[in-house]
Amino acid sequence: MSDRLWWKHGVVYQIYPRSFMDSNGDGVGDLAGIRGRLDHLAWLGIDAIWLSPIFPSPMKDFGYDVADYCDVDPVFGDLAQFDALVADAHARGIRVMLDWVPNHTSDLHPWFRESRASRKSAKRDWYVWRDPLIDGSPPNNWAAMFGGAAWELDTETRQYYLRSFLKEQPDLNWRNPEVERAMHGVMRFWLDRGVDGFRIDVIHRIAKDPELRDNPASESPGPGWGGQLHIYDENHADIHGFLKRIRGVLDEYDERAAVGEIGLRPDQVATYYGKGDELHLAFNFALLQNGWDAHAFGRELALFDRAVPPEGWPDLVLSNHDVPRHATRYDDPALGDARARALALLLLTARGTPFLYYGEELGMRNGEIPPERRQDPLAWTLHPKVSRDPERTPMHWSAERGAGFSSGEPWLPLAADWTTRNVEAQRADRGSILWLYRDLLALRRRTPALERGTWRELPTPDGMLAWERRLADSRAWVALNFAGEERSPQLASAAIRDGLRTTAGAELPADASLLVLGPCEAAVLIVDA
Ligand code: NOJ
Repeated sequence: MSDRLWWKHGVVYQIYPRSFMDSNGDGVGDLAGIRGRLDHLAWLGIDAIWLSPIFPSPMKDFGYDVADYCDVDPVFGDLAQFDALVADAHARGIRVMLDWVPNHTSDLHPWFRESRASRKSAKRDWYVWRDPLIDGSPPNNWAAMFGGAAWELDTETRQYYLRSFLKEQPDLNWRNPEVERAMHGVMRFWLDRGVDGFRIDVIHRIAKDPELRDNPASESPGPGWGGQLHIYDENHADIHGFLKRIRGVLDEYDERAAVGEIGLRPDQVATYYGKGDELHLAFNFALLQNGWDAHAFGRELALFDRAVPPEGWPDLVLSNHDVPRHATRYDDPALGDARARALALLLLTARGTPFLYYGEELGMRNGEIPPERRQDPLAWTLHPKVSRDPERTPMHWSAERGAGFSSGEPWLPLAADWTTRNVEAQRADRGSILWLYRDLLALRRRTPALERGTWRELPTPDGMLAWERRLADSRAWVALNFAGEERSPQLASAAIRDGLRTTAGAELPADASLLVLGPCEAAVLIVDA
């Protein structure tokens, strides 16, 4: 179909480059590794990959501290390898999105080095500098998300710089037109190289209150991030103007798209679509916070479906590099992979662009990280419990040494079940969760209602969730059983033409009204319109 838009009708797969495939045995994944594994992604049937940052970086926040926006960190490869990856991905019909980090750079970025050098530096105003208060304290009460105050004193020039995350991640000053111009230049650098779009890091933070007013206290006041309401340090109205101009840059090219990371409530997130003139997609993170509860999932799906403006399009996210994997969040060992399978079906049949996180197609769980192998700085700046290492462990390709990920010592330990839960083993097992993902992706692709249809919740007994997707004469019914015992979703009568259920080898009945789901089982039925 010629009007099939990859970012809207397709499926995006997030790669955390350090952990996907290591081609040179240094224990860290790289671009050549990804390139060598593109056939897995083509076989799976995804439309696009999003690479978490690959740019030169001191890796204080594993690439979200960028020291040069227009190059590749040597640990991942070089620009030639990047070009080769894009060419090979495109040859397989796979689009490539990069992770653009506009809110902050590394403190080692030449822009910041120059800015920091003197109060009179030509780039001083490229970052947010302020004098200390009379008593020497920071200019306001803002807290950094990754611990401590949002202000760091530069002892040489005796001013504070703003840093919303780590102290090694100074915030850029987007209100300076030179910064905006330079960042548009960065986008064009990659778009000219054939990149299909960007995932944009914390876009809701690129403009703050120009008066730097104190945030009010939250319901649980305290010095940290959670102790205040983030009224003045994020979600400033001026961001929408910046976004319209970012969109303008993307629209200079064919079919390029941006998805924004916005850590706000879904109704606020939805405003970042503008009137179809800002973001193409804004991440809906509501499902990352849900308990295992049919009602909560239904409520969040309905909320975002309604909140996104008519010019926009929703999206669906269950896992990423910042939160525990969903197979772990919802794990019930007695049920094996049943819940992960049901959620695969949810992700690929609700309305919106699904974002898969590498390894979720295997049902990968979080890894165990012994204290001496901790990598994520949050383990020190906040608390070991909030470390993101467990969801970043290497991909399991095979039962070979290093899980086929690396011939060396992987940068993070492998998750416990890698010898059995890996691509090679699951490809050999037609009933595996990997095959379920592939079958769901194929069903989605051949069913217009699933790719583009409307979404409407259907009534069900308690503990179940069901919806209809519809586009002209294409109609799909989806039912999920969140309960621990067998139940019927009590769907109406309709002949089932196509579809699948999440239990390996289980058949669908001839008519929708006869469907009975096992514990934590789900099904998608293609029925007559
Ligand atoms: C959000 C990213 O997803 C996260 O990994 C990173 O640490 C922060 N933004 C800061 O860039």
